[in-house]
Order: sequence, then structure tokens, then C-alpha cells
Amino acid sequence: MELNQFIEDIIRGNSLVNMVVSNYRRKQNECKRINIKPVTIKDEYLLQFESIVSNKAFHENLEADEAIEKLTKTLTEDFKNIFIRTEFHEYQCMVSKKGKLTCKKRDAGKVCLDLSHNRKKEYIIPDNEKCDFLMELGVMDENGKVYKKKYDKFRQINKFLEIVDGTIDGEKFEEKLRIVDFGCGKAYLTFGLYYYFNNILKKDVEIIGLDLKDDVIDFCNKTSKNIGYEKLEFIKGDISDFNAQSNIDMIVTLHACNNATDAALVKAVKWDVDYILSVPCCQHEFFSKIENDSLLPMIEHGLIKERLSSLVTDTLRTLYLNNEGYEVKLVEFVAMEHTPKNIMIKGIKKGQDVITAKMKYNEFKKFWNLDDLFIEKYHNEEIGNDY
Ligand SMILES: C[S@@+](CC[C@H](N)C(=O)[O-])C[C@H]1O[C@@H](n2cnc3c(N)ncnc32)[C@H](O)[C@@H]1O
Repeated sequence: MELNQFIEDIIRGNSLVNMVVSNYRRKQNECKRINIKPVTIKDEYLLQFESIVSNKAFHENLEADEAIEKLTKTLTEDFKNIFIRTEFHEYQCMVSKKGKLTCKKRDAGKVCLDLSHNRKKEYIIPDNEKCDFLMELGVMDENGKVYKKKYDKFRQINKFLEIVDGTIDGEKFEEKLRIVDFGCGKAYLTFGLYYYFNNILKKDVEIIGLDLKDDVIDFCNKTSKNIGYEKLEFIKGDISDFNAQSNIDMIVTLHACNNATDAALVKAVKWDVDYILSVPCCQHEFFSKIENDSLLPMIEHGLIKERLSSLVTDTLRTLYLNNEGYEVKLVEFVAMEHTPKNIMIKGIKKGQDVITAKMKYNEFKKFWNLDDLFIEKYHNEEIGNDY
């Protein structure tokens, strides 16, 4: 079927739930994804286009005619893939350079349409739908309803997955993906990642969760076995001693304590991973080290100094990764009211201008009078005497 006709049928078919346009045709593009959903504003049926650009969302509400035209053009010129969900079917489609459309169609569970403009947030793993690992980990009850007291965790997992979804490159995505979660703890995130790649996206993925604690690792391995997550493995050990047996594409950390985050970043650099998604936790090292006479009025207050030293640490981590060839963005992980530990360091291997990066790194260290840092000592031990 012609692309234009297909899009028109879907948009005018009155059963559209949502669409996701992804996989940009060329390597570099600020816009990673376009989410499209029907909305009713002042009784008018419109299509809301949400473009995700550098983790910011830009909205545009279009009438059906405009939406059909824009979507056909976008799919011919810019993006290769479109996922479509209607009340009755799901379509996973690809559009070739010449505009040829190929689709896989399957039945979808019945979905109720809600066209209100401010409808409730849709999560990658939804509430009120049974999800095996969330039930096993006590986040959902047996009917798939998220327990009130576990809602923050539920939101956190979904937010992490949303960021992963907006980060990964469609090209790379075709291959097997290997991920390590350092300091996985009870592994809500590790299971979430496996569920997302293996169960939702149907991708070939291998994930390792690493933690120091015996009981946690036993529990996670048993849980993984119970729900048949064959390529999800948990290993007991210290990040510093861990050696991967094969290429790793992505490392993640979620609130890995203190210098555990630094150790994870050094490992990522050593393995030359493509993606780093790291939400640091408590930070002690810089608190005792930062000095700057001009900023004494801030540093002499313990509370301010603590917050400042956390921010200085994350900035230096960013500069370290820049120096190692990563493009880094600091993004808000979840809103401050849910956890103050809410900065995510998102690194993508790009091969940056490392000479400028090293200058910035050194100037920043000098400004804060920082020396003898864990991340540098560990880097020198693991990789070579660069610092
Ligand atoms: C605050 S918990 C976070 C757990 C999990 N990522 C989450 O967010 O639910 C930090 C975890 O990191 C682990 N950890 C700390 N230092 C580590 C190290 N050097 N090597 C491996 N695991 C470490 C701890 O045992 C703990 O389970």
C-alpha cells in the first residue's frame, strides 16, 4: 500500500491510540523521536506531535490533513521507522529511501481511547497492566496495580527507560546489546531494562547486574530464573574487580554509592562503551577537598558546601568523560520532589576534541584546588597514566 494512503487510513480510522516515529536516516540529528497521539481540544479532533529534541519535548497540534502531510513527508525524508498502535492492532513499519512501506501487523489488546488534552502520563511500563518482574519485586499486586508506597520506584524505572529509549541509536540497535548495571541492588532497574529490550522491543539483549551483596545477588538470580529472563545474570563483586567477558555497549548506574560511580565511569571508558547512563548518589570525596577563597562565603556553610561539592563532582565527571571522547549531557532524572539525587550523567561515545576537553578539565580542577582524586588514580591503574 502507498505510504500516504496508509497514513491517511490510520489517522482517519478513529481508532488510533499512538504512533512513534524513530530511527533517523542520517547519523546526526537533534530530534530523536516524534510521539504522535490524538487529542481533543475544544471539541476538535487533532493530532499532537511531540518532538523529542535533546530530551526536551516540543508540541504541535495539527488537524488531520496537516498531520497526514507532515507525517508522510517526515517518513519519506527523515525517519525510517514508525510504530502504530490502534485500539485493535499494532504495526511496526519501515519506510525505504524510495518511500516503500513494509509493515508487520499484530493484534493489540483492547485499549481504551482517552483523548483529553491532559490525560494521565503514559509510562513505558504502564500501571494497571500485569508486568511479571514488577509483580515479583512487590511493586505491583497480582492484578497489575502499582502499590501506592512503590509509586516512586515505579516512576523512577519508567523515567530511566524513557531516557534509554531517547538515547539509543537505531543503527546500533539492530545488533545484540550488552549492558552492565553497576551497583544494581535489588535490581528494579536491571529487570526493567531487560523487560524493555527483550519483552517490549523484542531485541537481543544480555544484561549483567553487579553488586557487593550476596543476599541481593541470590535473590535477583532466583527472581530472574522464576520469570524466565534467560539472558539476565547477577554477579556478586566489586566494580573495581569486575572484568567483562565480551564487548559491553552500555553501562548504567542508579545511585551507586560515593566513588562506585567513578569506578563505573572508568570501567565504561576502559571498555569503550557507546552509552553511559549514570545517576550518582551520595558524594563524600570532594567535600573534604574543594577550596576556593572567592567562594568562601558558600563553602563555610556545611549544607551549601555539601550540595556544591556534589555539583562540582558531577561537573568534573562530565569533563572527565569529555576528555575520554564522550559527548555528555546532564539531565534531570526525576523531579526534585521525588529524590534530590536526580542528576543523570548521559554520555555518548563520539570522539570529542580531547585537547580542549583536557584544558577545561585541568582549569576546573585548579579553580577548585582539587588533587589526588579517586577517579584519576583509578583511571591510571586501570587504563594508563593519563592523569
Ligand atoms: C543505593 S543502592 C542502589 C541500588 C539500585 N541501583 C537502585 O537504585 O535501586 C547502591 C548499591 O550499590 C552497591 N555498591 C556500592 N558500592 C559498590 C561497588 N564498589 N561494587 C559493587 N556494588 C556496589 C551497594 O551494595 C548497593 O546495593
